[in-house]
Amino acid sequence: SDTTFRGSDGALVTGGMPVTTALAETGSPVYLLDEADFRRRARDFRTAFAGWDVYYAGKAFLTRTIARWVAEEELFLDVCSGGELRTALLAGFPAERIGMHGNNKSSDELAAGLQAGVGRIIVDSLDEIGRIERLCELHGWHARVMVRVTPGVEAHTHEYIATAHEDQKFGFSITNGQAMVAMVRCHYSPQITLIGVHSHIGSQIFDTGGFEVAARRTMKLMAQFRDATGELLPDLDLGGGFGIAYTSDDSPSTPDELSSNLREIVALEARAHSMPVPRMSIEPGRAIVGPSTMAVYTVGTVKPVDLESGAQRVYVSVDGGMSDNIRPALYAAEYSAALANRASHASPVLCRVVGKHCEGGDILVHDVFLPSDIRPGDLVAVPASGAYSRAMASNYNHTPRPPVVAVREGSLTTLLRRETLDDLLALDVGE
Ligand code: LLP
Repeated sequence: SDTTFRGSDGALVTGGMPVTTALAETGSPVYLLDEADFRRRARDFRTAFAGWDVYYAGKAFLTRTIARWVAEEELFLDVCSGGELRTALLAGFPAERIGMHGNNKSSDELAAGLQAGVGRIIVDSLDEIGRIERLCELHGWHARVMVRVTPGVEAHTHEYIATAHEDQKFGFSITNGQAMVAMVRCHYSPQITLIGVHSHIGSQIFDTGGFEVAARRTMKLMAQFRDATGELLPDLDLGGGFGIAYTSDDSPSTPDELSSNLREIVALEARAHSMPVPRMSIEPGRAIVGPSTMAVYTVGTVKPVDLESGAQRVYVSVDGGMSDNIRPALYAAEYSAALANRASHASPVLCRVVGKHCEGGDILVHDVFLPSDIRPGDLVAVPASGAYSRAMASNYNHTPRPPVVAVREGSLTTLLRRETLDDLLALDVGE
């Protein structure tokens, strides 16, 4: 994060507190979230995209405190499950500033959103539209809806997090006419107000070319809808997906750069179709919370292994792993790591930071140079761990999930407490 540096004793300092001091209080492993960094990134998006609505994508990481910060920074919120919706509402997040996502929302989830009065529901199937209509009819509710479309672009990212090509589960195809069918259906529905079109092309994207194509195709679709029905839809959402730096090889755009790029594209397309610029929104998750957080682990074992090339790799095992961060195993995601509790002038050696779980793919950082005197008891920090790590954590091997603790001006606030074995065993209702 912004505020991370090495203190005079050599330990990393984040949010005004040495990680050694933080760990003495929180235990290990822990996710340390720099509150000021989170808020600054939220604010930077809001300022850069002034006039657009910025929805923080809660799937990246959401707790009640986070929802409160998001509200305080005057962002909107994207939720994609009944659980995220409940969390936001419990935090007092204004329902009219919430957008609801999901390709298979249950009737219960839809009802919870409609009853609370969410600002918009992004629909993803004709089945869902029918479900919304029935609920509204039954309870006298009304739904404001966006239609999620597949703009048919190849986002340059991992296959599992690319969502704009045709052959995947999200969105209505523009190409085969399904998007128009869904829009017309919503248009004529007495229970629904169609407010616009939504596109999300994928995640951890560095190249704005994909957004350009998405803007072009969605605005063309809005123009066709206007020509067919006479109605100009007010809203267009271009989704999230803005990439962050996990290692020094990544160089992400700033919110200012993204904003001027996207504004230019949208203005151009609006002119091309003789329509006003729609009310625009975006949904960054990772770019706000990712860099704010470092995971801190304790080294348990250090084991050198000979490679075929004759070189050596040192396997550094820590007290977490794929149960708290599945991303390296699932997407071959790259991270970096640093010795966190002290400075060392020992020569750097090639290391692999691995977890405690019972499989070979339980890797946190594939290749990283760490000081050769790294030893059990040392702390290892993995930066940029705020998005989709704790949020996707599991209890694999009956492992309790680590806490997330905010650090601000040298003091700690727990956002999520550490799970205990008793928490886990309480679910096991057998004899
Ligand atoms: N809007 C929609 C409709 C989305 O589906 C997503 C992410 C976002 C916004 C936020 O995307 P972001 O700005 O955070 O990239 N677990 C994967 C990422 C999955 C993203 C799912 N949708 C990972 O760890 O890389």
